[in-house]
Amino acid sequence: MRILVTGGTGFVGSHVVVALIEAGHEPVIVDNLSNSKLSVIDGIESITGFRPPFFHLDVGDQLALRDAIGEGVDGVVHLAAWKAVGESVAKPLRYYGNNVGATVRMLEVLSEVGVRNLVFSSSATVYGEPQELPLREDMATGRATNPYGWTKIMMEQVMADLAFSDPSWSMTFLRYFNPVGAHESGRIGEAPHGEPTNLMPYVSQVAAEIRPSLPVFGTDYPTRDGTPIRDYVHVMDVAEGHARAIGALSGEIGTHIYNLGTGRGTTVLELVSEFESTNQVSVPWQGHARRPGDVAETWAAVERAERDLDWRAKRDLSDMCRDAWHWQRSGLAASRSDQH
Ligand code: UFG
Repeated sequence: MRILVTGGTGFVGSHVVVALIEAGHEPVIVDNLSNSKLSVIDGIESITGFRPPFFHLDVGDQLALRDAIGEGVDGVVHLAAWKAVGESVAKPLRYYGNNVGATVRMLEVLSEVGVRNLVFSSSATVYGEPQELPLREDMATGRATNPYGWTKIMMEQVMADLAFSDPSWSMTFLRYFNPVGAHESGRIGEAPHGEPTNLMPYVSQVAAEIRPSLPVFGTDYPTRDGTPIRDYVHVMDVAEGHARAIGALSGEIGTHIYNLGTGRGTTVLELVSEFESTNQVSVPWQGHARRPGDVAETWAAVERAERDLDWRAKRDLSDMCRDAWHWQRSGLAASRSDQH
């Protein structure tokens, strides 16, 4: 199938493009390059031997998007969005405009040209503060703790309403837990600008001696070692979940929701120690105050994706740490010159 991938040069998007090619699909990338580089496409080509068509555009630009769709596409994987939690608190209107506004404009174009298959990059953040663990897809979405989280809840709502209004739509929401790592080739990965906000890239930069030590935000949570628990999942497993969803669900009308996680929780300090032992490096850390908006623990119920998509995460925490480090050492990830 010919699949439009919005945000296809981003961290998760680039891995999704690789997984789609490996599953025999033909991706078309659109991205405004606001948080990624064109050279990502060289990495995709070197891994797969295929150079996907690329359109430099904003998904909210309806004229440009119609051009990119051209002769037509069989489905869309929609990942284009901003994702920095702290920035969303400081600039909420930019987040609502860029994430929700642009998505509405994109959906108008898809409705007009007759594309009715969509896989959406959602997030476990839509569950809010967990009332019960593991988090299941049939649980109510909660109160987001920041504007970024609200944009994910709102985008899901817009899409669910659209699918309800027109039953020819097939909508799939993939709620990612904590995607980390990189393609095992070391050719694509996460390249944060400046100081990383997420844990794994920060750990990698400390191991590479780009930063002196890891700030651990909160050591007094009610968990086994006092640090928060997350469900870290290898980004290639997440990417393969999209290929499965596209394969299994196109034509299955209605709204479908799946968690993409491993079902296992890991504390911050467990991840640090796995990174050190897998890669034989040292990651000094320092305890800091809790980060506002963080929850103590989240992990996924994974049965639904196993049952309907025949998808389960195959890679373990050691694979995630090994591939993150391989990517860090490739020279393509963030370097000293990226520091603010
Ligand atoms: N952490 C640190 N030090 C750091 C960075 C992170 O201690 O320098 C801790 C955080 O406090 C948290 C854990 O590492 O306990 C994971 O933090 P991340 O920022 O890597 O991930 P989050 O769980 O906060 O957020 C991720 C995605 C969001 C998404 C959310 C949904 O980044 O986009 O999961 O649960 F909304």
